[in-house]
Amino acid sequence: MIQFLLNDQPTALEHVAPSMSVLQYLRTVLVQVGTKEGCAAGDCGACTVVVGELTGDPQNPSLQYKAVNACITPMASLHGKQLITIEHLQHQGQLHPVQQAMVDCHGSQCGFCTPGIVMSLLAWWLGVQRGTAAPDRHGIELALSGNLCRCTGYQPIIQAAEQSLRLCQDHFLQHQQEVVQLLQAIQGTPGAESLRTERGFYRPGTASELARLLEAHPQAQLVAGATDLGLEFTQQLHQPSKLIYTGGVKELTQLQDTPDQVIIGAAVTYSSAQSTLHQHFPAFADLFNRLGSLQIRNQGTLGGNVANASPIGDTPPVLLALNATLKLTSIQGSRHVAIADFFTGYRQTVLRTGEFIEAIMIPKLKADETLQVYKISKRFEDDISAVCMAIWMRREHNVVQAVRIGCGGMAAIPKRAKATEQALLGKPFSETSINLAKQALAQDFQPIDDIRASAAYRLAVAGNLLTRAHLELNQQGVSLFAEAGGTSQ
Ligand SMILES: Cc1cc2nc3c(=O)[nH]c(=O)nc-3n(C[C@H](O)[C@H](O)[C@H](O)COP(=O)(O)OP(=O)(O)OC[C@H]3O[C@@H](n4cnc5c(N)ncnc54)[C@H](O)[C@@H]3O)c2cc1C
Ligand code: FES
Ligand code: FES
Repeated sequence: MIQFLLNDQPTALEHVAPSMSVLQYLRTVLVQVGTKEGCAAGDCGACTVVVGELTGDPQNPSLQYKAVNACITPMASLHGKQLITIEHLQHQGQLHPVQQAMVDCHGSQCGFCTPGIVMSLLAWWLGVQRGTAAPDRHGIELALSGNLCRCTGYQPIIQAAEQSLRLCQDHFLQHQQEVVQLLQAIQGTPGAESLRTERGFYRPGTASELARLLEAHPQAQLVAGATDLGLEFTQQLHQPSKLIYTGGVKELTQLQDTPDQVIIGAAVTYSSAQSTLHQHFPAFADLFNRLGSLQIRNQGTLGGNVANASPIGDTPPVLLALNATLKLTSIQGSRHVAIADFFTGYRQTVLRTGEFIEAIMIPKLKADETLQVYKISKRFEDDISAVCMAIWMRREHNVVQAVRIGCGGMAAIPKRAKATEQALLGKPFSETSINLAKQALAQDFQPIDDIRASAAYRLAVAGNLLTRAHLELNQQGVSLFAEAGGTSQ
């Protein structure tokens, strides 16, 4: 059984198919059709809903609201959470401040994108009131990064967002304590941690429960944010018989900041990891602003990105450059594998049956070490990389003492550029050595031609990124690049 709050109503559901999405539930089961379906692939934001979750001290939790894509969110992952839909914004005959501002500023034309945009703005508006979102233009653009509007244009929508802040009270803020209590009551339900729907959706609470479930159901698929897996259900109509959800596993949802390393549980979302990563690896955290949209980052996890083993995933090149280690766990125990040894072929990894990624361990940078991260894609937001490159270096008087270059989009797997690294090692990080290193890139990679980029483009752009890294480290051309937000477009 799944128990959650549908807006302010405690709701219990049985017989939910593991792959049933929140959008299917709203539109086909409840016939609440305010939430729209555009792409069914997490791309357009028409289906955006807001999910409220308990966070912080379990004795004294608070509510955190985030915008997510209903089309790829499994219904069963809502257990213990609040689902807020567009139908619930109006209160006592009054539009919500965000809705009223959209009307006043003419923020809607055909209206298809409007419910999704309003829900994204609601999550942002609540974040602003609670001090977790920026009230400025940047904050608004971030909030709208996953919402496409084909006819109104964004200016009136941005004006509406600004205007909505003239009011700072709504019924969500007024009733949040009641919601906290209702969610606590659901989460305190005996057996809730290991609940199982009749159609095979498992929600373990600890890593050992997860290991036991995988041992008992070796064919079950793990699901974290479902931002990759959800597309298999909506685009390829795959119907999994068993899913094991990692979002409730204590060890996998923890983030530890130790003196030597940052340890990120595999089910920690990008949004949750970003501020800690920003303290220690600003270039890595900045990359997140280019990874999917806010909705995707609110759900997608680093563990899912690594396990998916896509050659164009954004985090593996950075984790390769940082020499991260993966903690892999099964019923037999845990082992540690260097990320460089994890990928064995196109979408193949060393993960064994019954094994899962528990955590990603990233060594912190020392004073003489630098990290530079570049993503090249056609659009700034919500676009997959053509090329991603991360460069870790230790230099003494500008002479390269050690270097690791992780690349995505250049081979069948995320891969180190070992010949290029060798060409840089022991030499000054200068234009001359960069030019030699560029030639070595062709030994490291024979990229493919595809819709994102030609092989020649990928090789040329990878070489140019080495030049850019050199210019940036030597403080030349920095102002030019800063305009692009720190990561390339
Ligand atoms: C619109 C859109 C935009 C996107 N943009 C980007 C982008 O810019 N850059 C990018 O890199 N990716 C992007 N993605 C892909 C996706 O968001 C990421 O790969 C994300 O990190 C996947 O994480 P998840 O938690 O959603 O994984 P899920 O979809 O839940 O799982 C992905 C795979 O990993 C497995 N898995 C999950 N957790 C574990 C674990 N702990 N141990 C072992 N296996 C596990 C699952 O079984 C599944 O096979 C985008 C996706 C969408 C839909
Ligand atoms: S329908 Fe397009 S993001 Fe969900
Ligand atoms: S108002 Fe028509 S798509 Fe946005």
